[in-house]
Amino acid sequence: MRIVNQLDEAYQLFRAERIDRKKCGLVPTMGALHEGHLRLVERARAECDFLAVSIFVNAMQFNDKGDHERYPRTVQADLDLLAAKGVDMVILPTDQEMHPEPIQFQVVPSGLSEVLEGASRPGHFAGVATVVMKLFHVLSEGLAYFGEKDFQQLAIIKRMVVEFHLPISVIGVAIVREADGLAMSSRNMLLSKEERAAAPALHDSIEVLRRGYASGERRVESLVQQAKTELAKEPLFKVDYLCVVNPATLDLLEFAEDNSRILVAANIGLVRLIDNSVVGAIDAQK
Ligand code: PAJ
Repeated sequence: MRIVNQLDEAYQLFRAERIDRKKCGLVPTMGALHEGHLRLVERARAECDFLAVSIFVNAMQFNDKGDHERYPRTVQADLDLLAAKGVDMVILPTDQEMHPEPIQFQVVPSGLSEVLEGASRPGHFAGVATVVMKLFHVLSEGLAYFGEKDFQQLAIIKRMVVEFHLPISVIGVAIVREADGLAMSSRNMLLSKEERAAAPALHDSIEVLRRGYASGERRVESLVQQAKTELAKEPLFKVDYLCVVNPATLDLLEFAEDNSRILVAANIGLVRLIDNSVVGAIDAQK
């Protein structure tokens, strides 16, 4: 497994592989890898000839300085996990390599990025889109893997590829959960014991909404009320949003349909957790 700090070197390596018509893949991450990340890596490993994973804690996408400082960093353990998965290259740039100072350009999405996470975390998706665009230039052509865990991020990146005509296939991978339903996240390791015990309430509230839908309720207002009541049983959570949206446009819906998406974000202590699920089908992801 090659560990590459220079983006130009990573670009050249991808290019050399493509000359032999090899399919190149990229899994962008911020490290602190867990089973959720590894599912993306496994899927990519099965589908690509040459597979790279990037690890870069992207300061540009953290609207909260404390959140950036607290973000877990476990590079050596990450490298061991990736080597065991047969990854060909790890892209591990420094801040200055990724975002040379003074920073004068960003990819600033609108529309999709202004709601939900975007409304609560100003500048977040510009930071995400900018770093992903840089990584996509390094990859140039191939497949890129993202988790449905960050559903809005996935929607924005899919749209970015369409609008900028990038020859990259964006592949979404289902959410990987802990046994108690909590969606895996690098931030979970920041939870206290008490918070960790309370955290599955987020997923439980989604399940309540799904059950309401399964029993015939279609009015989002009523479905969301049921879910919020469930989440309120766990007083440690402060809900930011809990809503049902069109999965492509993220527009809020008045009436839920089978493929509508439930999106939820809530804070527990200093940690922000997000989760989502399809409304009207059995959750095959569990
Ligand atoms: P990070 O949070 O490290 O996540 C990297 C990828 O893993 C993302 O596509 C995310 O959706 C996916 N992922 C995380 N937890 C998952 C889970 N439980 N199940 C399935 N997939 C999961 O997302 C980012 O980093 C950054 O914003 C990045 C795209 C790397 C840009 O900086």
